[in-house]
This record gives sequence, C-alpha cells and structure tokens, in this order.
Amino acid sequence: MTAKLIKGTEIREEILEEITKEVKNIKDKHGVVPGLVTILVGANPASLSYVTLKIKTAHRVGFNEVQDSQPVDISEADLLALIDKYNNDDAINGILVQLPLPGHIDDKKILNAIDPDKDVDGFHPINVGRLMIGGDELKFPPCTPAGIQELIVRSGMETNGAEVVVVGRSNIVGKPIANMMLQKGAGANSTVTVIHTGTKDMASHCKRADILIVAAGVPDLVKPEWIKPGACVIDVGVNRVGEKPSKKDPNKMVAILKGDVDFDKAKEIAGSITPVPGGVGPMTITMLMKNTLKSLKFKLGI
Ligand code: GUN
Repeated sequence: MTAKLIKGTEIREEILEEITKEVKNIKDKHGVVPGLVTILVGANPASLSYVTLKIKTAHRVGFNEVQDSQPVDISEADLLALIDKYNNDDAINGILVQLPLPGHIDDKKILNAIDPDKDVDGFHPINVGRLMIGGDELKFPPCTPAGIQELIVRSGMETNGAEVVVVGRSNIVGKPIANMMLQKGAGANSTVTVIHTGTKDMASHCKRADILIVAAGVPDLVKPEWIKPGACVIDVGVNRVGEKPSKKDPNKMVAILKGDVDFDKAKEIAGSITPVPGGVGPMTITMLMKNTLKSLKFKLGI
C-alpha cells in the first residue's frame, strides 16, 4: 500500500486564501488590517531567510508588515525598550522576535516582555497556560503544533477517541501538541501518550498509534515496523544529513533533508504521511499569519 501524502504546501495555500479573504472583509468593514512586526537581531543566514519568508507571506495576505532589523550588539535594555514600544503601538497586533538571539541577551526575558495579547508565537507563559486550560481560554496556539493539528484535520483524519502518540517533549512542539490533542472539542478529544528519551519501549507505544506525531530531531528514529498499518504519520523532523548539488544550479550545494521517520518504508504501511520537506514545514508561517489575524479579531471583538 502507498500512503496518501499530506501536503503542507497545498494546505498552506488553502489557509492563506482563507486569511486573505478575511483580511479583505475586515478592511472593508472596519478600515484596518492586521499589523505584524518581526524583530531580527543580527544577520544569522537561517534567521534572515525565515524572516524574509514571513515578510513575503504577510504582504501576500494583506497585512501591514513592519520589519525591524537591529544590530547584533544591541543591548538587552534597548531590545526590551523596543518591545515596549510595539506593545504600546495600536497598529501592531503581533510581535515576533526571531530566535535564536545573540548570547548576551536572555531569550526568556525578551519573550516574557512581549504583551501576551500580541504574542503570536504563543511562547509567553501566559499563553502556555491558556493553551493548557484550552477551550475559550486559548488565544495563540504555538505555530508548529497549530499547523500539525490543521494537517490532521484537513486531511480528514478522525481525532475523536483516536490513540495519539507524540514522540518528543519539547516546549515548542511535543508538549503543546500533546495538550492540544487531549482537549475536549473538534480536531482533538484524543487519548494522548507522550514518549521521550526516558521511555523504556518506544516501539510498543508507537504501534498503538492511530496518529503518530514525531518531533524528536533524530533522523529515521521511527522504524517502519513501529507503524500501525493505516496510521496517520506526522513527521516534524527536519534533519540535515548531507549536501547535494542544486537541481537549478549544479554548481551550488543544497542541504539533504531527512525526517524522523524512515519515509520510503513508512509510506508502504501508513494510511497517510507528511513528506519532509513539504509537510509540516510550510505550516508554521501560515499559522503565524492566522494568529496575527486572530489577534486583530480579538481586539475588534469579532
Ligand atoms: N526561529 C525559528 N523558528 C522560529 C519561530 O517559530 N518563532 C521565532 N520567534 N523564532 C524562530
């Protein structure tokens, strides 16, 4: 059997279209558009390319996008003052400080200074608490877990009563997606198990999973024989395992990416599976746009 491919690239287009329409409707009715500021400290090439894509996507959906680039040696106090400025700027609904930050700045201090009602990354402890309580309390689910949930729901997978096994317990993916899938309500209400490096027998847990979400950062960690036939497999891993010449320009080298699941063999057993790249990856920025739109809607009370 060959599994159905869950294409993040296609689901991204669907969601961005929905956001674009909603932004236009709000602009027509209320005369405002969502405002997103991206603060980039220094010029780390990976961060620069993420930020460039965020700006491009924000423009595409009709947001007011502010790119604020700061020198690598900005002081912590000056960065805190900048965040305070945007916390008090009425035209800004979402504040994103691109991580990682230079070593002399305390990430936690910076993220905790962002107004929780503008924290579209969903990293502030108040938003982590809101996520844990769930229901009406939830404001901004972190973007990668929110993207995973959209992929599961939009690919037609039944979550109600499903056995969900999450591999990995990071604050950014494992813990929040486990919390989201166990909440009461549509797209969740699952029985959730989280496994990690301290788990004695990973295989036995994975074999029970109707939905297997793998975010461990270890290439090919999940073996094909661990997958229940017909299961939905969400591979969050993006591991660089080497380099190869680019198809567009053979003189240029590009990264060879591998997920946490042995894709070629797993696709013969799973019912549906995300590819790497092109599965979960495209969803993170998409959900950042959704959170920024939500922030404006909360403010307008609509
Ligand atoms: N760096 C890499 N991914 C992210 C992200 O999702 N949010 C922020 N703030 N920084 C990142």
